[in-house]
This record gives sequence, structure tokens and C-alpha cells, in this order.
Amino acid sequence: MTQQRMNVQAPIERILAERWSTRAFDPQRQVSHEQLATCLEAARWAPSCFGAEPWRYVVADRFTDAAAWQQVVAGLAAKNQLWAKSAPVLIVAVADPLFAHNGSENRWAEYDAGQATICLCLQAEALGLATHQMGGFDPALLKTALGIPDALHLMSVTALGYAGDMALLDESFQAAENAARTRKPLSDIVRSGHWERSFQPPAAAGWEARYQESSVESLPWFHATLDADIRQALEALGLREGAALDLGCGPGTQAVALAKQGFSVTASDVSWTAVETTRKLAAADDVQIACHVDDILNSHLATPFDLIVDRGVFHCFPDDCDQQTYLTTIRRLLKPAGMLLLKCFHKDETSEMGPPGRYDEADIRGLFADGFELVEARESRFGPDDAADAPKALFCIIRRTRETQGSR
Ligand SMILES: Cc1cc2nc3c(=O)[nH]c(=O)nc-3n(C[C@H](O)[C@H](O)[C@H](O)COP(=O)(O)O)c2cc1C
Ligand SMILES: C[S@@+](CC[C@H](N)C(=O)[O-])C[C@H]1O[C@@H](n2cnc3c(N)ncnc32)[C@H](O)[C@@H]1O
Repeated sequence: MTQQRMNVQAPIERILAERWSTRAFDPQRQVSHEQLATCLEAARWAPSCFGAEPWRYVVADRFTDAAAWQQVVAGLAAKNQLWAKSAPVLIVAVADPLFAHNGSENRWAEYDAGQATICLCLQAEALGLATHQMGGFDPALLKTALGIPDALHLMSVTALGYAGDMALLDESFQAAENAARTRKPLSDIVRSGHWERSFQPPAAAGWEARYQESSVESLPWFHATLDADIRQALEALGLREGAALDLGCGPGTQAVALAKQGFSVTASDVSWTAVETTRKLAAADDVQIACHVDDILNSHLATPFDLIVDRGVFHCFPDDCDQQTYLTTIRRLLKPAGMLLLKCFHKDETSEMGPPGRYDEADIRGLFADGFELVEARESRFGPDDAADAPKALFCIIRRTRETQGSR
């Protein structure tokens, strides 16, 4: 489930992807002394400037020291108390702002305490525990209650325990628990060599990560059989054979279904794992499919096709330049009068999760004006069963015309 709540832009370790700050803890389930020690030991091995190890922790465990735990709860901001009171362990992280070796200011102390604390959190994740760090607390109150020397800096309180039942959470928190986990794109937070040059992750990396981390059946676009819109369009157009490209084949289900219908199918995807999955599915279903790892924005495909099926690829390219590259490539790859069946997210679909590009009929008509004819565009759904609550989609039948504006 974690995987479906976030979109990684490059593959990362499962433990990093799966850590998140839950507010739902199981108040009945104790963290063992051994587990607690392991988490704190992970913090102990964090790197620090000058090897000063400026972090200190005060652990308050409700099962072993209810009074201390109660004092930490009382020091939390009221909103944090609402949920953190179900966490069996609360860990106060403290930074010593002076170097022990010469008494001078350690301006990295707080940075290092943060590093140590994330080590603690990731170790907890590895043990099957959940964590949630908090900055919302009263430092003066906590210092007094826990006897922490005044010179030290209180940095955070980390709630630690087993994940609990979200349904028991205060209603105001429940939506946040299930919401998509979002992050600024890598291009916003990373610069390449110079502040003015943003870092661009390879286009394939995010998709590759998605296919490596999830079973294809769990992906939101997985559709075991031929998409109903595609099936109906093929029937309406009387298309039963010819060279077909399943562009961005993903799980391979559409490619295999097209092959079974009689098309001579090429399947391509930017993700190596997706292409392998398609290859295996084709072998299991005993159909021939030519499978290629190929980026449609830098495509090496050559054969002109009678039919191209794009179920969920074009809407991944919100950038004008990428859209133009896509259009040029599709024009090149389609035979004259060849058909493109395009299914993308509809403009009326407002959910945060999902592709960045959303279109209505007018958008598609405008974008596909040169060298294409929009035969039909209709509203549909993008769900496994085309269920009523599935994302709104736009399904388009587009014909490659013989002339482009450039050739007139
Ligand atoms: C230093 C720090 C202070 C935070 N303070 C609070 C807090 O007071 N209350 C809260 O609910 N979450 C708090 N958080 C959690 C963040 O809101 C959370 O990490 C962020 O939204 C990203 O979500 P994720 O951890 O699930 O990836 C804090 C996190 C950090 C690192
Ligand atoms: C929403 S999924 C749909 C997969 C498949 N068409 C289906 O209906 O199950 C989008 C697919 O497009 C692929 N993709 C994304 N960018 C691509 C690109 N530049 N070139 C080729 N494939 C791409 C992804 O790897 C992913 O498999």
C-alpha cells in the first residue's frame, strides 16, 4: 500500500520508501527492551562532525515508566497529543551545542542529532515498527519535567511503536493518513554543478522503480483483459489484423490481448522490468510479441504501424517540448491512415495521484491538429473494471492523415 501512496523518481531501498510518519499507533503493543536498544544503537552509529556524537536521548516508555511517558505527552503540542498518546514510546532527542574537546560552539550539533534520529527511525522501520518525529512541543516544560540541563537543545520527540488501526484515529487525521505522499521533484531540490542548473532524473528511473517495487497486478493501471474502450474502437473500426504497437506496454496485458485478436504486435516500454513482464506474459499465453525497451521521446522503433495503442503514456508528458517529440514520433511510426487509440486522464479528474497531464477533447484536437484527424473523443474511466469511482479518462480515436501542415 505504501508504494501506491507515493511516486518515486528513481529506485530507492524499500525501507526508505516504506518509512512514513503515521499517527496511528497500537497503544496495547509494547516495544521490547531489545527492539528499543537496537533503535538507539542505530542512532549511536550515525556520523557526526569531529566524531563529537552530540546527540542525547531521553526515552519514555509507557509500559515501564508511565510517569515519565505522561510528562512527555503533557509537553507535546495539543494537536500532537491527540494521536501521540497512543504511541507506547516517546523519545526526546537532544543536541549538545558545545564540542566536548574544546568547549567551542558545535554548529553541526543539531544537524548531527537529526542524522542520528533518522537512523533510529529507519532501524525501527526495519524492525517492523513505526515512528513519527515531532517538533511541536514545549521545550522549557520538557526540560524541567525530565531534568534536562538548560544548556542543551531539545530537537524533537519521536513517537515509536507498532502501527495501529487508522479507523480509531481522530477523524481530522484520517484523510492525511491515506493521502498521497508527495515530495518536491528532484529537479527542484537538486542542482547540477551550478545553482542555476537543475538536476534531471532519467525518465525511465521512476517507472523502473515502480515496476521493481510492485507486482503488476497491484498497479492502478493494471487491466487483465483488453480495455473496453480499445476493444469497442477496434470493433467499430473493423480492425482485426495488421502491425500494432502497444506503446508503454507496462504489464503487457493489452499487448497480449491484441496479439490474441490477430494483430502482429510490438510492445515497447521505457522500463526494462515492464518489457520483461510483457515478454513473460506473452510466453505464458503462447503468443508472439516483439518486445523492446524504448523511450518514445527518443525512440529507435522503425516499423510503421497500422495501429498504435497508447493507454496511459501521453498524459505522462506535460512538457510542451516532450509533447511535440511524441507527436513527431507517432507521425513517423503510423502508416498513412493508421490509427492511434489514445486513453489519457481527463481534465475533470482532479485527484492528486496520477499523471501530470489531463486533457479534454478540445486539448487533444488542438494538440493533434497537424497530420492527424480526431475521429472520436469520449469520456470514460481509467479503472480496472471501469468502476464508477475510477479516475475519469478521455478515450480518443485518432487517424494519421496523409498530409502535415509542413507538407502542404
Ligand atoms: C523535525 C520534525 C518535526 C516534525 N514535527 C511534527 C509535528 O509536530 N507534528 C506532526 O504531526 N508531524 C511532525 N513531523 C512529521 C512531518 O510532518 C513529516 O515527516 C512530513 O510531513 C513528511 O511525511 P513522512 O514522514 O510521512 O514522509 C515532523 C518531522 C520532523 C522531521
Ligand atoms: C500508466 S502506465 C500504462 C501501462 C499500460 N499501457 C497499461 O495500460 O497497462 C504508463 C506506462 O508508460 C510507460 N512509459 C512512461 N514513459 C514512457 C516513455 N517515455 N516511453 C515509453 N514508455 C513510457 C511506463 O513505464 C508505464 O508502463
